[in-house]
Amino acid sequence: MKSLARLGVSIDSSLLKQFDAFTAKAGYVGRSEAFRDLIRARLVDEEIQDSDAEVFGAFTLVYNHHKRQLEERLTDVQHDYHDNVITTTHVHIDHDNCLEVILLKGKVSLLKQIALSISSLKGVQHTKLVLTSAQENNHGHNAMPHHHH
Ligand code: NI
Repeated sequence: MKSLARLGVSIDSSLLKQFDAFTAKAGYVGRSEAFRDLIRARLVDEEIQDSDAEVFGAFTLVYNHHKRQLEERLTDVQHDYHDNVITTTHVHIDHDNCLEVILLKGKVSLLKQIALSISSLKGVQHTKLVLTSAQENNHGHNAMPHHHH
């Protein structure tokens, strides 16, 4: 059961004005949820700076499937890291191009390494790795083992 704490925050009136404008634009009903989301976003950013943190990743890539042996190499990389690959979704964009979304889990450093191994393959045109983690419901520690050094 989560307990709720209240806090009073002193804030520059011009900063508050900008925050309220953001809150309204984003569609938040009140300041509290917007405030909590900003804190969570910052904590996730902080966590993914830690190369040992256990996180999830969504890796998207666009590639030309006519490129010789590229699909085999993509499959090889994913088999090399089978413990980290949760699932892969493939979309045929047009005659030549494919989009893949690979969902990953594991250490930040390893997921970045997987992303680099794929990005550097010839024929891979555009890639993006988004890392995330659950900042709530983990009872004060991370859902998976997490070691600080
Ligand atoms: Ni395809």
